[in-house]
Amino acid sequence: MSRSIAILAGLLFALLSIDCCAGYSAHGRPPHPISDAVLARQLVHQSNWAAVGSISHNEKITDFPMVNILAVDDSALNGSSTGRIHFLLADFEFTGADLLHNNKITFFFSEEQTGSCNRRGVNPMEPACPRIMISGRNRKLDPKSPEYNDYMEAFNKRHKHSNIWVEAHHFYLNELEIENIFIVAYQGGPRTISAEEYYSAHL
Ligand SMILES: *[C@@H]1O[C@H](CO)[C@@H](O)[C@H](O)[C@H]1NC(C)=O
Repeated sequence: MSRSIAILAGLLFALLSIDCCAGYSAHGRPPHPISDAVLARQLVHQSNWAAVGSISHNEKITDFPMVNILAVDDSALNGSSTGRIHFLLADFEFTGADLLHNNKITFFFSEEQTGSCNRRGVNPMEPACPRIMISGRNRKLDPKSPEYNDYMEAFNKRHKHSNIWVEAHHFYLNELEIENIFIVAYQGGPRTISAEEYYSAHL
């Protein structure tokens, strides 16, 4: 009995080892390493959309993780990166509805959003294709705040029809209040980046 348990444990360990390390091969190290925070800022700035996860409040999948796609933009009016993740939500839509009940959201960004991992022959699941998971709370932006018009105008530059979403379908502009960032990039396994490091990084 104990022998078969030992064999089973050994097998499990072997399987876990394969699983854990196969994804963390060293191949694809960047020629000029940059900091995790700068890399995270680049991934966000180059993305026009993100996959997002929320805790579902939908009656068919209550409390399951829910995933969706949101149009995003982190640009100042002149197009430079602010790192501030802006996105439109509507209360009737999956993510907006979930956040009204449980204000927790995770944004996913991958370098493959530009197609560059595929071009380099790197599978998006490998750390050689950098990815970040940014978790936080949603903050609905006040249309009367001084920055609001600039943020909305910057958002419209990237997303041509977003004015129509706002006017005809009651979408509203939001900003992510970042609580944690995980990064999986190149060697070393998953790491964290604080919101302070992220915002103070210079592209
Ligand atoms: C773009 O605007 C931001 C603030 O709105 C400013 O900090 C930055 O210096 C500007 N960049 C350029 C290249 O003008």
